[in-house]
Parts: sequence; structure tokens; C-alpha cells
Amino acid sequence: MEVLDEIRDFLGCETPQAWIDEALKQQDILLIDHAHCEKKAASTAMTLMFRYVDRSDLLNKMSRLAREELIHFEQVLELMEARDVTYCHMSPSRYASGMREHVRTHEPGRLVDTLIVGAFIEARSCERFAKLAPYLDDILAKFYRSLLKSEGRHYQDYLGLAEDYAGEPITERVAHFKAIEEQLICSEDDTFRFHSGVPAA
Ligand SMILES: [Fe+2]
Ligand SMILES: [Fe+2]
Repeated sequence: MEVLDEIRDFLGCETPQAWIDEALKQQDILLIDHAHCEKKAASTAMTLMFRYVDRSDLLNKMSRLAREELIHFEQVLELMEARDVTYCHMSPSRYASGMREHVRTHEPGRLVDTLIVGAFIEARSCERFAKLAPYLDDILAKFYRSLLKSEGRHYQDYLGLAEDYAGEPITERVAHFKAIEEQLICSEDDTFRFHSGVPAA
């Protein structure tokens, strides 16, 4: 898949094997947190739609994205039900907030950075689905392979919107968030989640 090669290049590091090993041991938490992530992805897209009502390209892309994320949410719930995994509240990982704290507070920097962060979250999700799939049972592997296609497109949508609305090259901001994202993924993390770092020993 072409977009997957682009994504691996876009990201500063590959998902560490230690995270994959932990995910296989904690599949219930993985699924529950995954459900929260899909719901949060829809909510983030809708927040952008409320904040930037005058940007029609953003409205169209985010509306479609929000609908797709909610369908993913329903699919995860269905899978959890089939496996007797009970949905519950769960604290989010440090990942998204760790990137969002670096988003600029003035416009259009705030919009551009938020879109770049969105691109990284989608890119990492896509990379993790791809890396996890070969280790999973057939049903979950098939589901994750189907998801990585849409997350790959979401990555392209976010990055394209960031480029269009920046009015200047975004290379430097992308490099800035690439370093932050890499640090969050490749450093030790106490809490196992879908986007967590290296499991603490
Ligand atoms: Fe999704
Ligand atoms: Fe997505």
C-alpha cells in the first residue's frame, strides 16, 4: 500500500516491538481504548467544524471523517460484544495531549498545528494497525487491515488541509511535531494504551 510507505516515512520511528508484545497481552484494554479513540477522532473533527465554519473544504472533509470514525466506533463495539469485553471509562494516554500542548494559540497557527497533529495521530494509528495485524487472530486482523485504509486517507486529508490553510511551507512545523511524536512513542510510558510509548519495565 503506497500510503503506508509514505506514512512510515512521515513518522519519526516505527512502533517498538515491546509495545506490540504488550498489546497482545492486553487485548481487552487495546479494544476499549481503541473504541474511545474512534469516538474522540469523530469529536475532534466536529470541534473543527464548529470552530472554522467559513472553510468549506475543511467542513466537507471533517464531516465525512467524523462519520467514518463513528462507523469504526460501532464496529469496535460490535467486536467487543462478540468477545465479552465490557466497555468502560478509561483514562486517555499521554499521547494526544502531549502533542496538543505544542499547538500554537494564534490563528492560523492554531488551525495548522491542530491539522498536523491530526495527521500524526492518523498516521500512527495506520502504522500500528499494519504492524499489529500479522500477530492477531483472523477476525481482528481483517478488521485492522480494513481500518488502516481509511486512517491512511484521514492522514492525507489532515496533511492536505494543513498545507492549504498555512499559506506558507509547513515543513518546519511537521518536523517539530515529528520529533515530539517520536519521543512520545519511543520513550517509556507507565500506562498501556493504543497510542502509548514503550511499556515501562
Ligand atoms: Fe478510525
Ligand atoms: Fe481516522
